Amino acid sequence: MRHLVAPSLLSANFLCLEKDIDMVNQSEADLFHVDVMDGHFVPNISFGFSIIKQIKSLAKKPLDVHLMISNPDQYLEDFKDAGADWLSVHYETCPHLHRSIQQIKKLGMKGGVVLNPHNNVELLKDILPDADFVLLMSVNPGFGGQHFIEGTYERIRALHRMKQDLNPGLLIEVDGGVDHVNAKALAEAGADILVAGSAVFHSTDPAQTISRIKHPD
Ligand code: DX5
Ligand code: ZN
Repeated sequence: MRHLVAPSLLSANFLCLEKDIDMVNQSEADLFHVDVMDGHFVPNISFGFSIIKQIKSLAKKPLDVHLMISNPDQYLEDFKDAGADWLSVHYETCPHLHRSIQQIKKLGMKGGVVLNPHNNVELLKDILPDADFVLLMSVNPGFGGQHFIEGTYERIRALHRMKQDLNPGLLIEVDGGVDHVNAKALAEAGADILVAGSAVFHSTDPAQTISRIKHPD
């Protein structure tokens, strides 16, 4: 399977959001990546339900909602109602992660676990059979436009080895500092979904950049 591409709307122009959503609709992108930040779990605040609902009303591809918020359990149903199709929660925010993932799936969404760069992928061993996907952060969460952390390749390879036994259908998503230059190596290491924000929206031809990330060779 060729990897999927998920442009992160965090780097879109919110004054012309409809235009950027249309661009993604018509591009080779597979998902909309939607970053929710609360100013508590991460040192930045992005947007909430009303914006996500408006994105949903125009989006022709599924919404992959990445929660960077404390206590996400309190809001799982609200994100479903706002239009999330995929919903991921940080390992670091869920004391009852197994329950959270079951709840996300019960609500009819794909359930994902996100891991910060400092946390070992071995931590995910017992939750792996239950997750639809794992999002490996390749920067510290909170901001677009940060530098890719090179140690991510080994983390992807380690998670890829783990999933063979525990959940071969698991998808591995990588988020932060992804561009058309590192896309090929990331896919070869085992990444199934590449998130890209600034590389796409700050380029002169965003749709072409999406194609280059999708077909990096
Ligand atoms: C960072 C977010 C990312 C962000 C990626 O905390 O989770 O999704 O938008 O932005 P780039 O691709 O610019 O690193
Ligand atoms: Zn993200």
